[in-house]
Amino acid sequence: QKTLKSAYKDFFPIGVAVGPRSLTGPDAELISTQFSSLTPENAMKMGPIHPEPNKYAWQDPDAIVAFAQKNGMKVRGHTLCWHNQTPKWFFTDSTGKQVSPEALLARLKQHITDVVGRYKGKIYAWDVVNEAVPDTGTSIYRRSKFYEIIGEDYIEKAFEYAHAADPDAKLFYNDYNTESTAKREKIYQLLKKLKDKKVPIDGVGLQGHWSIYEPTAQELEKSIQQFANLGLAVQITELDVSVHPKEHERRAKKSTDTGELTAEMVEKQAAQYKMLFDVFRKYKGTITGVTFWNVSDKYTWLDNFPVPNRKDYPLLFDQNYKPKKAFEGVVDFQ
Ligand code: XIL
Repeated sequence: QKTLKSAYKDFFPIGVAVGPRSLTGPDAELISTQFSSLTPENAMKMGPIHPEPNKYAWQDPDAIVAFAQKNGMKVRGHTLCWHNQTPKWFFTDSTGKQVSPEALLARLKQHITDVVGRYKGKIYAWDVVNEAVPDTGTSIYRRSKFYEIIGEDYIEKAFEYAHAADPDAKLFYNDYNTESTAKREKIYQLLKKLKDKKVPIDGVGLQGHWSIYEPTAQELEKSIQQFANLGLAVQITELDVSVHPKEHERRAKKSTDTGELTAEMVEKQAAQYKMLFDVFRKYKGTITGVTFWNVSDKYTWLDNFPVPNRKDYPLLFDQNYKPKKAFEGVVDFQ
């Protein structure tokens, strides 16, 4: 019986994103038999791990790291600086006024130093900055609080702080929609700027929140090649293949889809997953990790998101933890 981690041992670690509840029961069984890397789905984000100025919540992230170590898995950290799931206190002083650029940088430094420092030597790769590039418009910088208060420097500073806290950790910029022409170009410009300035960045994370309709092999390969040309490693960091069309398409078709799984979706998903992993293997050496965003279709963050009351089935294991048709196409190759 092939497993994901045995099939890919000569290529890259196969990871999975989990919460603390997955560390026992059927999830835990599947995680330890199939995967070789673990990522906290939420537990290391700014809000969850640093809820108040001088208070860290180490229990959940510690438990995830301990589980990984017990089972001989690597750990991929997610994420040190993001505009979402970051507490209000980060940007305001005790009177509720917005903090100065210097004060926000000092907080960012403290946060990154503490979090990376705690797991020094235990986390092999970090998503340092997440989703800093906007989907629309011409600016390469999303107008987040970090950008508005500090300016574009917050990105390179975050990498410098992380590198100082653990010089051996591989540091990544991570984003979604990386196969759309406009966004690929903007991300490329940002990464090139960082490389030119000798910022300690090792790679780029393509989140990989894809669907049975996109991306095409050509679009994906173009992104991999373009980012690799900068001398960066590429990891797929949040892989799932939704069986539903992306929202603009859905709206255009005025779909009333409630999330029922059809035989056609199952086939298309298997074909899409096979194509994706064919491409990943083709870029052996450049692609240094592939992480799935959740364990099985029993629970996925895409349930009821972005469409309420709609189930999704984006993973390789079904709601009963059984491998799907898509699993076979991923592990069976010459
Ligand atoms: C998601 C989690 O899976 C959800 O549980 C949470 O409610 C929202 O965030 N891009 C990212 C991830 O970088 O951190 C997000 O994770 C999914 C999109």
